Amino acid sequence: MNKLFIEDLDLRGKKVLVRLDLNVPGDSEGNVTGDGRVWAALPTLKYSLDQGAALILCSHRGRPKGKVVEKLSLRRVAVRLGELLKHDIRFVPGDPVMGNDVLAAIKAIKPGEIILLENLRFDPREKKNDPAFARELAALADLYINDAFPVSHRCQASVCSVPGWITSAYGYQVKKEEEFLARLLGDVERPYVGILGGAKVSTKLGVISAFLEQVDKLLIGGGLSYTFMAAMGRPIGKSIFEHHYLATARSFLKKYPDKIVLAVDNYVVEDIGPQYESKLVDRIPDGYESIDIGEKTKKLFAAEIAKAKTVFWNGPLGFFEDPRHAAGTRFIAEEVAKVKERGGYSVIGGGDSAAAISQAGLNYRLYSFISTGGGAALEFVEGEKLPGLEALTDKDR
Ligand code: 3PG
Repeated sequence: MNKLFIEDLDLRGKKVLVRLDLNVPGDSEGNVTGDGRVWAALPTLKYSLDQGAALILCSHRGRPKGKVVEKLSLRRVAVRLGELLKHDIRFVPGDPVMGNDVLAAIKAIKPGEIILLENLRFDPREKKNDPAFARELAALADLYINDAFPVSHRCQASVCSVPGWITSAYGYQVKKEEEFLARLLGDVERPYVGILGGAKVSTKLGVISAFLEQVDKLLIGGGLSYTFMAAMGRPIGKSIFEHHYLATARSFLKKYPDKIVLAVDNYVVEDIGPQYESKLVDRIPDGYESIDIGEKTKKLFAAEIAKAKTVFWNGPLGFFEDPRHAAGTRFIAEEVAKVKERGGYSVIGGGDSAAAISQAGLNYRLYSFISTGGGAALEFVEGEKLPGLEALTDKDR
C-alpha cells in the first residue's frame, strides 16, 4: 500500500489519535462477549507505547443512530482492553463524545498514557462524515493511525475525514488484513472456491458479481440462496427471499451456470420458535422455511472444497445462532479447516463465520487468515478501494 505505515512515523512524545474497531459484541450491560477485535488492536498499541507516544483511542460500537445507548458505551470495552494490554486505559466520556472534560484530559495526557473516547456514533456527526466533527477529532492529536480495518469501507468522519487534517498512517492490523486479503486478488492457486452465506442478496450483490468472475465455483447457502433457488423456479416455501433481486439472480445463473452451486436439500421448519422440529427435504414444502443446508448438500459442498487450493468464506449457511441449526455452518467450518492442512489457502471474513469457527471448537490457526472485517473484507476482495485507507497520507507525498 502506497500510504504511510505506523513505522514510517516518529511517534516519540506525540499525541496520537488511533482509530480502532472496537465494535465488539456485548451482553445487556455492554460487557464484552467476544474480544477478537480487542486482541487485534494490541500490536499497534504496544508499538506506539514503546515508541513513547500518548494515545487517544476512538471507535464506534454498534449502530446507536446518533444517540447515547448505554449498552453500546465503550466503558466496558476499556476494561477488557486494559486487561489484555496490561495497561491503564482512562475512559473519558464526553457530551456525547467531545467536551471540556475530554479536552482537559487530552491537554494533560503524558507519553505512555492512554485515553479512550466514548462511542463516536453517539454523536450523529460521525456517521454523517461531518467535516467539523472530523476537525475537532483531528485537533486532539499530532498524528492519526487507522487500525480499524472493519470500518474502513465506511466514509465516516473519524475514518475518512480526520486524515485530511493531520498526518495519517495505517497500523499493524490493517497491514495484516491488506497482505492476506490482497493474495485473493492476484494470481490465486486454483481451483478457487468462494462460499457465501448470510441473509441477503442485496448486501452481497457486489461480491457475488465480482466473485463469479474470479472463482471457479461459488457455493451459495443461507438466506441469500433462496432468491437463487426461486429464480430457478425451485420451491422455497416461506424461506427468506428478495423479490427485487430475482431478475439479477436469474442473470447470474444464466451467465455462470457451471459456477454457481446451490443446496440440493435443506432442513426446514414450519415456524421458528422454541418448540420447532426440523425435517430434511429435497423440495421445500409450502408453509415451511429452510433453516440449514441438508446432508446431500454437505457432501456436494465438501467435494468442491476438497478440490480447492484457495477458499474464501463469508457468512453462515443457515440459522446458526440456534445451536440446533448450526450443523451446516459448522460442517463448512470443518471442511474449510482442511484446506490449509493440505497446503491450500483459506480466508474467512465476517463475524458470523468466525463465531461459527469458535462455536465448533476449531482453532483459528487451522485457517490461513481470519479477517476482523465483514463488509470491509468483502469490498476488499471484490477489488474495491476502501475510502478509509485511500484517505491516509501518501508515502511519497
Ligand atoms: C463491522 O462490524 O462490520 C464494522 O465495525 C462496521 O460496522 P457497521 O456495519 O455498523 O458500519
